[in-house]
Amino acid sequence: MKRKLIAGNWKMNGSLAANQALLQAITVGLGAPAACQVAVCVPAAYLAQIQLLLKDSAIDLGAQDVSTHQAGAFTGETSSAMLKEFGVRYCLVGHSERRQYHAETDAVVAFKAQRALADGITPIVCVGETLAEREAGRTEEVVKRQLAAVIHTNGHCISEIVVAYEPVWAIGTGKTASAEQAQAVHAVLRAQLKAATEHSDRIHILYGGSMNAANAAQLLAQPDIDGGLVGGASLKAADFLSIIAAAL
Ligand code: PGA
Repeated sequence: MKRKLIAGNWKMNGSLAANQALLQAITVGLGAPAACQVAVCVPAAYLAQIQLLLKDSAIDLGAQDVSTHQAGAFTGETSSAMLKEFGVRYCLVGHSERRQYHAETDAVVAFKAQRALADGITPIVCVGETLAEREAGRTEEVVKRQLAAVIHTNGHCISEIVVAYEPVWAIGTGKTASAEQAQAVHAVLRAQLKAATEHSDRIHILYGGSMNAANAAQLLAQPDIDGGLVGGASLKAADFLSIIAAAL
């Protein structure tokens, strides 16, 4: 059975001093190698600092976005080759905040996943419905459409991705999907991946959206929840460590 994956999403938070203190507390707290995989997805400006801080640890480095382009006149963008130079193993693509505030379409998200894969970086593809979509009974249709674009563009490489189901209404709101609600969507995504590749078993499907120390164990006990993508609670060492402990 694959080990669970707990990935922190720091979003646009941190400072040189705060990053150092947070990672020190997490590494000390982790102690012996954790039974699950752990990663932190950090702001691009801190990749160099955090690569150094994680040098002797079992925690993997992640980024939060990647350009669809390889190089050139794309001011403000970061290429997958640049991320690779800093030892980045994971990269979030299609986070709902990128879809919402930067108008990222399903096609753009699919190309970002493709760029990451081309440079040996594992894209963590985020999918999830808004509250209005859930209330309209469209959850399944929306997440399947979002994942289908990535499957279509990435062909047999699809077994190399990580998927994160993040209901938009649960992100940063303190409202978590119930374990049953999350499991139901994860089962849909699992079936879709199974139809796309014979290696679907190796794909992690993470849950994200107000995961915390109190609700992590129940969510992570679901058969199709292979880990968590953790925002707010990943900025507090004690909370992040409790979630990691719940993933054993
Ligand atoms: P949250 O964020 O845990 O703060 O809800 C999760 C995410 O956006 O990845």
